[in-house]
Amino acid sequence: MGSLPGGDSAYLRRRDEIAARASAYIRGDVIPDVEYTDAEHAIWRLVATRLREQHRSQAAPEYLDAAEQLGVGVELIPQLQVVADRLDTLTGFRLQPAGGVVPFRHFCGSLADGYFHSTQYIRDGSTPFYSTEPDVLHEVIGHGSALADSRFANLYRLAGEAVRRVETEAAVEFISKVFWFTIECGLLDSSDGPRAYGASIVSSYGELDQFRSAEIRRLDIADMVGASYDITRYQETLYSAHSLTHLEDVAGGFWESCDDASIGDLLAAAE
Ligand SMILES: [Fe+2]
Repeated sequence: MGSLPGGDSAYLRRRDEIAARASAYIRGDVIPDVEYTDAEHAIWRLVATRLREQHRSQAAPEYLDAAEQLGVGVELIPQLQVVADRLDTLTGFRLQPAGGVVPFRHFCGSLADGYFHSTQYIRDGSTPFYSTEPDVLHEVIGHGSALADSRFANLYRLAGEAVRRVETEAAVEFISKVFWFTIECGLLDSSDGPRAYGASIVSSYGELDQFRSAEIRRLDIADMVGASYDITRYQETLYSAHSLTHLEDVAGGFWESCDDASIGDLLAAAE
């Protein structure tokens, strides 16, 4: 897994410098470009090239099609505004710069409005193949690719609307758990076994090599009540849907209809 990124102070200073710009951003502004260094572009090139190779055999075809639509290259870190313009054209989703992890209620509420919070800094070069925190590689190659497809983008919106609808922390937490097991770590069946579409897995070189060793369960919302996860490790439990339609029926259907009472019933049934 590697150590936590950001071990050296020069890296932290650089990350904070890029992150600080996000706090000044107001929706509707052009997202300011970041002048990435050659070393930062080299990290992107190293990781994006290897991810692209792995995606051919490990990523779901629906993800591959979406990534091709987005059309991000492997040579240089793309500027966020360029990615945002492309997404806006494809699915109407927009990007908003973020300084780091955004609290889930706020992050998801923005999804309901069609805005995805995205960091702009890149991971520490000492741990290129894994990052415990979101960085521009995770946001663009993971989430940006999915948001280029209208069916995946709709699932993000539905998750956002679900969070807007509920009031209790327990309900928000459970919606966040379903989000984790689908949008971040979800798998789809294929003729050669489960393949990844979840942003966290398709943006992690290490986890793409290992996810098939996890316990892979059939996608089932009620089953997730008792499932646990740790975002700082490779996942031990994952959920695979038969197809994108199955994912839409199960996860999309859940987010579309859930409320505090129905989630409360689900949680109570598991006690
Ligand atoms: Fe993510």
